[in-house]
This record gives sequence, structure tokens and C-alpha cells, in this order.
Amino acid sequence: MIFYVLTLFPEIFSGYLENSILKKAITRNLLAINLINIRDFAFDKHRTCDDYTYGGGPGMILKPEPLSSALESLNPRGKRVIYLSPSGKLFKQDYAEFLSKKNDLILICGRYEGIDQRIIDYYVDDEISLGDYVLASGEIAAMVLIDTVSRLIPDFIKQESLNEESFMQNLLEYPQYTRPKEFLNMSVPDILISGHHEKIREWRLRKSLEKTLKYRPELLEDIELTEEMRKILEELSSLGK
Ligand SMILES: C[S@@+](CC[C@H](N)C(=O)[O-])C[C@H]1O[C@@H](n2cnc3c(N)ncnc32)[C@H](O)[C@@H]1O
Repeated sequence: MIFYVLTLFPEIFSGYLENSILKKAITRNLLAINLINIRDFAFDKHRTCDDYTYGGGPGMILKPEPLSSALESLNPRGKRVIYLSPSGKLFKQDYAEFLSKKNDLILICGRYEGIDQRIIDYYVDDEISLGDYVLASGEIAAMVLIDTVSRLIPDFIKQESLNEESFMQNLLEYPQYTRPKEFLNMSVPDILISGHHEKIREWRLRKSLEKTLKYRPELLEDIELTEEMRKILEELSSLGK
């Protein structure tokens, strides 16, 4: 997979790329990250990339011409074009899974007050928001998307590591522990050192359901509950959890 990232500040990505698990995946040719500086496509004397908004209002937005030239240089037809934006559709794991099966993704990082709407109307397939808050720039959002999507690419990490993660089955992940067995007067739950695989599985499912019920109950509306899950949820509700 190739990520093409359109940004005014490509240097922001260097620390991330140097220190992330992506570096290994890039060496293994599982993916490539192609950083494109939008300013390289601004052809006036000052290489201007932003301008005031029509209709008035504070702040500047990114001009359409440099963005359009940058996009055209990538031959965007057949590639999925994504604009990271607070007014887009919420970024979720199932969409990340969908993207992980694509070959080429073009990510547009906004700045200032955003980008000219005509770029969105003409080029963008998906306008994607990380959450209900406003970041100062799209670069961090692009890194989050790259980080999430790339680890779902086949062979990037072991499939079994993904299967039980939060959101993979619309449940939040159960608590995990490592050595030492005692820490700050707290012990690792006995069941996890019992070696009894079936009991450990049941405990983990119960804890996943308990946590999902506590923090994200709406996720449970979208899963087909097994008989076992239904029983656990009834027990939890009778315990007032
Ligand atoms: C300061 S924001 C612009 C906010 C815009 N004026 C608005 O109110 O929707 C600048 C850039 O940060 C990025 N950004 C901000 N919040 C984001 C979010 N929640 N998800 C994804 N990108 C975001 C976008 O690329 C955006 O163009």
C-alpha cells in the first residue's frame, strides 16, 4: 500500500516515521509513505498556499490551485482521496479495515481554517474526522489514520494479535497484566495464572463486556450477542454494573 500525504509541513512526519513500527514495514516493502509538500505546487512569486475566505470571517484557508496541482501530479483517478476534517464522518475501525485493503490512499492535511470546498467536491472520496474536537492541523490526524490502517495490512502484525483488540468485535478489550504478580498491593487475578484456558477466555469475555457496558454501551447495540454474552450481561445488570 502507498500512502500519499499532501501537507504543508512534511517534516512533522519524520519523528513519527523514524520511531514507529512502520519503519520495519517500509523496509519489508509492505507499505510506502510518500510525503508531498503542497508548497512545491504553488507557482506565484511567494509560493502562496492560503488566502482569505469569500464572505468574510477570521483566518485563512488553503487555496485550490496548489492542492489541485499536487493531486493531479499523483494521477488521483483510481486512488482513494481522503480529506482529514473535523466536519467529516467519524473515523472508526471498520472503515480502517476497509482502507487496509486498498492499494493507494491520498491523504489531504488541512491547516488554518481548512481548504477550499471545490477541492473536496471535485477530488475527495471521504471526508474523515477523528472525533468531535478541532485539531490545529491535519497532519496529526493523517498520522492517526496511517497508524491505524497500516497495522491492519496483511502480514504487518500477526492476525491473532488483532482478533481480540478493542473494536475488532465491537467490544472494548479486557484488562491485561504482566510481571510482577504483586504491584502496589494489587495482585494479578488468580484466573490468569491458573493455566485454565477456557476459564481465562470466559473471564476475558466478561471483562470485555463489563468495560464496554461501562464506557461504550452503544457498541453493544451493533453486535449479535451469543447466548453466553447475553447471560453475562444479565448477570452484570443484576449486579448493577
Ligand atoms: C483548525 S482546523 C480547521 C477547522 C475548521 N475551520 C472547522 O471549524 O471545521 C485545521 C485542520 O485541522 C484538521 N483537523 C482539525 N480537527 C480535525 C479532526 N477532528 N479530525 C480530522 N482532522 C482535523 C483538518 O485538516 C483541518 O483542515
